[in-house]
Amino acid sequence: MFGAGNARADLMFVGEAPGFHEDKQGLPFVGQAGKLLEKLLAQIGMQRSDVYIANVLKCRPPGNRNPLPDEIEACESHLFRQIELIQPAVVATLGNFATKLLSGRPLGITRVHGQEQETTIGGRSVLLYPLYHPAAALYTPAMLTVLSADFARLPALLGRSSEPVPPAEPALKLVAAQAAATEQLGLF
Ligand code: URA
Repeated sequence: MFGAGNARADLMFVGEAPGFHEDKQGLPFVGQAGKLLEKLLAQIGMQRSDVYIANVLKCRPPGNRNPLPDEIEACESHLFRQIELIQPAVVATLGNFATKLLSGRPLGITRVHGQEQETTIGGRSVLLYPLYHPAAALYTPAMLTVLSADFARLPALLGRSSEPVPPAEPALKLVAAQAAATEQLGLF
């Protein structure tokens, strides 16, 4: 399962690996996590057809286990080439595996989510924006609140991707995101 979406997208998402449904359909994020991703996109006035979505691994790990280092190594040149071809302004990494691979740093998603970082991929400057993985946020309301707030900064990052945008004030960020999660996502 290679990837799918708008080849001219300014925003590219990189997840972990195809799951059962993705493997069957040959499309990324078509299960529950994908539905949440679509709701989060709608919250910022975007839809799936506006973005490009890929994964670190191009094949489903047996039993949905975590990707192994040699599997990541085997697939990474494909991902880097995809980023070179799509030429997005912002690459939003979903979860630990995509974040660590593309940042080249060992820092976990809990430490770095919502913190954009200028990086160079294929000779082009790209803004890397780590986000919690939607599958993790599905079952952890507190994580969904944070993911929703981090998502809310994407339009600003896309508007001026070369300049850092100050993070929202934490208290406001939480209140706004909670409202968004309960009212707009309709999950609770
Ligand atoms: N989770 C991922 O990381 N990628 C998918 O494509 C689906 C679920």
